[in-house]
Amino acid sequence: MKIKACLFDLDGVIVDTAKYHFIAWKELAADLGFEFTEEHNERLKGVSRMASLDILLEIGGKYVRQDEKERMANSKNERYVSLIKKMTPDEILPGVIRFLNELKNAGIKTAIGSASKNAPLILERLKLDSYFDAIIDGNKVSHAKPDPEVFLKGAEALGVHPSECVVFEDAAAGVEAALNGNMKCIGIGEKEVLAKADKVIPGFENFSLENLRMI
Ligand code: BG6
Ligand code: MG
Repeated sequence: MKIKACLFDLDGVIVDTAKYHFIAWKELAADLGFEFTEEHNERLKGVSRMASLDILLEIGGKYVRQDEKERMANSKNERYVSLIKKMTPDEILPGVIRFLNELKNAGIKTAIGSASKNAPLILERLKLDSYFDAIIDGNKVSHAKPDPEVFLKGAEALGVHPSECVVFEDAAAGVEAALNGNMKCIGIGEKEVLAKADKVIPGFENFSLENLRMI
């Protein structure tokens, strides 16, 4: 396989934002009178904002009207944004910058493929906006992962064929999205959760372009 592009999920791959989502969802659950645990939070990784709210309400056994749901999602997002506004480049996960530079030097294109509508703000806070050749985020897609739309739009924006792309993903739905788009996928995290990926690595710390070429 000739690798022409690498597509990166953002949350959980470039930076750990799950801890901020957790704080904001936990506060919403507390307002509604139930507990929301870290284990519950795991179920929201890679899941869109509204689908995450549905899962949270199901956990709490709450049934609420659509307009009420929208108010809750907005209030959770306001709290989340207040937290991610304080992020700094120190929070970029280990090895990410080195790996991105390696790709750039080898002429391999890069894009972000994220479900988050806050991706532009996060990339700005991390001072990473200029690192990527294309950014496809939750504002630009209408079908959530495991639909491949976000990655197919990324490949299109980079002018490469899906079969020439490798996706990096930390969520099972994201791995499926990559495979549904006919792309190779490297899972970031645990093998048990990301079993369908072509390879699973714990992070970028000990991962180089040479390792990538071996998949
Ligand atoms: C994904 C996260 O990247 O983005 C999910 O893994 C999150 O946890 C989703 O719900 C949507 O994010 P946002 O920032 O648009 O609420
Ligand atoms: Mg993710």
